[in-house]
Amino acid sequence: NEYFRYKDGKLYCEEVPLEKIAEKVGTPFYVYSKTAIEDKINQYKEAFKDYPTLICYAVKANSNLSILKIIEKNDIGVDIVSGGELFKAREAGIPPNKIVYAGVGKTDFELSYAVREEILAFNVESFQELEVIDKIAKDRKKKARISIRVNPDVNPKTHPYISTGLRASKFGIDINEALDAYRYASKLENLEIVGVHCHIGSQIMDISPYKEAVEKVAELVFDLKKEGIELQYFDIGGGLGIKYKPEDKPPHPKELADIVIPIVKQTGLKLIIEPGRSLIGEAGALVSQVIFTKNKKDKHFIIVDSGMNDLLRPAMYNAYHHILPVNKKDKKVVADIVGPICETGDFFALDREIDDLQRGDYLAVMSAGAYGSSMSSNYNVRPRAAEVLVEKDKFNIIREREDYNYLIIPEEKGEI
Ligand code: LLP
Repeated sequence: NEYFRYKDGKLYCEEVPLEKIAEKVGTPFYVYSKTAIEDKINQYKEAFKDYPTLICYAVKANSNLSILKIIEKNDIGVDIVSGGELFKAREAGIPPNKIVYAGVGKTDFELSYAVREEILAFNVESFQELEVIDKIAKDRKKKARISIRVNPDVNPKTHPYISTGLRASKFGIDINEALDAYRYASKLENLEIVGVHCHIGSQIMDISPYKEAVEKVAELVFDLKKEGIELQYFDIGGGLGIKYKPEDKPPHPKELADIVIPIVKQTGLKLIIEPGRSLIGEAGALVSQVIFTKNKKDKHFIIVDSGMNDLLRPAMYNAYHHILPVNKKDKKVVADIVGPICETGDFFALDREIDDLQRGDYLAVMSAGAYGSSMSSNYNVRPRAAEVLVEKDKFNIIREREDYNYLIIPEEKGEI
């Protein structure tokens, strides 16, 4: 893409050669283009500018504090799924009236915290949750604003693990039970009903399921009106896909706007959208160094210093990520590009044609800005990777590489 480009055979992020960062901070590291993130935010703003819309970035895609500060600086809100995400969002300065909170299993502790912060809306996923929020709000002498997350039962035609809007999934309240849920909520005195929420899935490449879902939810909004239940917000969730393969053609935010605004307009509600992946995914890459190469039977292996603990997506979803050499080579090979972890699933690519990389060379796993670092772990007692933010010809470390001492701190006081 235009933010990661070759000049004279060297891969750059904006105007910084990735090799230069690798030599300065070591590998592996995540690198993000600030310009790419802000350009994406502006694409969304532009696409939805003619309709009152609150963009709430899905923090789960990437929760680095500096990334959240970029979100704050650009005046958009966030969609959170835990108390930890709320804490980070508040640390980054995001105002509570731009925070929506989804999740099927919010604990009492998390609910109390968010009630105290007076967030814009809880996207409530069960009858029991309504009851508990009401009680917590009462104890705290506050009113909690709620939307109900309805499950519109549409198929987003994406990976089964990230399809969330089907009836059989654990998410939301069945659209057929939604009226009852609203009736119930309207009787609870410490709740203020403000909206309706749905989210059909992630990495959506075909826009038509949005239309289907939003039409179904709009029907519900009309039914609620008839009963005297008036809403303010129509939250359509996130889910727009990004380019993982060079031939991928993800929909533009404008296409999403064009399809949903006419429907939402009829309800008169303000729109909330929750893009995660599409704001940050293509803005980031994971850069690693080749530790060894080896041949076994008819297979060639390129073994790198990052693994599934750093980027879980290939192991977990068999996800494709494009991989580029940081410095181009003349010769190509077909290789399995694998990490050092003791799991067969620890790979980034299988039977991939790639430049003939050797020990010491660097490579970049592309489109890793979303659900990369945020899903990372310390498996195999591996310190988490550093994170770097690039803007034009400057770069900054926005997360230090963990060190061995950091890894034992939480366990130090254990007694046996
Ligand atoms: N809103 C809600 C309620 C969500 O559950 C999600 C994502 C989003 C917004 C943001 O969706 P996005 O715009 O990023 O597609 N780890 C998986 C993706 C899990 C998505 C979960 N929910 C992956 O790496 O593909």
